[in-house]
Amino acid sequence: MASTTICHSLLCSTASSTSTPTSNFQCKSKIPAKSSSTVNLGPSSSSAYHLVPSTNGGYAGDQFWCRRGLVFVATLPFLLPLYESLDDSAVKAAEPGTSEFQLIKDELRKVVSKSRAAGVLRLVFHDAGTFETNKDSGGMNGSIIYELDRPENAGLKKSLKVVEKAKSQVDAILPVSWADMIAVAGAEAVLLCGGPSIPVSLGRLDSSEPDPEGKLPQESLDASGLKQCFQRKGLSTQDLVALSGAHTLGSKGFGDPTVFDNSYFKILLDKPWRMSSAGMSSMIGLPSDRALVEDDECLRWITQYANNQNLFFEDFRKAYTKLVNFGARWRSL
Ligand code: HEM
Repeated sequence: MASTTICHSLLCSTASSTSTPTSNFQCKSKIPAKSSSTVNLGPSSSSAYHLVPSTNGGYAGDQFWCRRGLVFVATLPFLLPLYESLDDSAVKAAEPGTSEFQLIKDELRKVVSKSRAAGVLRLVFHDAGTFETNKDSGGMNGSIIYELDRPENAGLKKSLKVVEKAKSQVDAILPVSWADMIAVAGAEAVLLCGGPSIPVSLGRLDSSEPDPEGKLPQESLDASGLKQCFQRKGLSTQDLVALSGAHTLGSKGFGDPTVFDNSYFKILLDKPWRMSSAGMSSMIGLPSDRALVEDDECLRWITQYANNQNLFFEDFRKAYTKLVNFGARWRSL
C-alpha cells in the first residue's frame, strides 16, 4: 500500500495537492479568485440554489456559498477527533455526508448528464486502473490529466472537461483534488443512470506526474490475462466481473446505453455475437467482455449477477470502492 502523506491541516493538504497541471490538459477555469462577494457560480447554479441579485451586485447565493465555506472551516476543529478515531489508517479524510462531499456532489450533478455518464465512469477506471500492489505508483491520483494522449485514453478528454467544470466551481470555495473529483464523478454517473449509491471517501492527493504506461488491461486479453491483470491491482475475479458490468453503460450494445442495470450479464449469457444471422449483434461487446463468459469462474458470477441485480449492485459498490481507494495517497489530519 502506498505511503500516507502527512499535512498539518485539511486546507493546507488540499491546496498542496491540487497544483495546476502543466501538461496536455489545460485547466481553463473561468472562476474568479475566491472572495466574499465575487464568487460567480454561473447560470447553471441558479436553479439549485435560488440565486437572487443582492445589493452589492453579487448574488445572495454567493453569500450562501461563502457562509457554507466558512461553516466548513469553522467546524473543522470539531471534526478532527472524529477523523483521528478512524480505524483504517489509509483513510483519514472526509467521509461522505460532510459539507465538502455535498458541495462536490452538487456541482457534479449540474454537469454530469446521462449521455456523459459512460465517459465519466470510464475515466475512473483509466485513472485508478494503473495501480499495482507491488509498485509504489498508479492508482486513483488524478494522473489521467497527464495521460490523455495515450491511445487507451482516446475520447476521455471530453469526460475530463465535464469533471473540470464542476471542479473549478468547487475549487473556488474549497480546493479539491482531481482524484477525489473523478472518484465522486464516477459514483454520481452510476447513480444518475439508475445504479447503486456508492459512498466515496475524500482526501486523495494528486500525483504531479503521469503513471507508468501499460498498466491498464488490453481488450484483447483472455479471461486468464484479465484475471491476472486485476489480481496485480488487488482485485479478485469477482471484482473483475462486477466492475466489467460498467460496460452496461455506453455503446457496446449491452442494453440502454444510459441505464445502469444488469443487462450486461444477461446479454453476455445469450452470446448474441455467436448467432449466424448476427448482423448488428456481432458488434456487441468487446473481446474482453466475451472472454469472461468463456471462463467457468467468471461465468458463475455472470450468472449470479444476471439473476440478481441487487447482488450486482452490492458487489459493484464494493469493487468500485476498492478501485478508487487502492493505491491512493491520502491527506492526513
Ligand atoms: C476488464 C477490463 C476492461 C477493458 C479491457 C476495457 C476496455 C474498454 C474499451 C476498449 C472500451 C471502448 C472505448 C471506446 O468506445 O472507444 C471501454 C468502454 C467503457 N469502459 Fe471499459 N474496459 C475494462 C474495464 C472497465 C472498468 C473496470 C470500468 C469501470 C468501472 C469500465 C468502464 C467503461 C465504460 C463506462 C465504457 C463506455 C464508455 C463510453 O461509451 O463512452 N471499463 N472499455
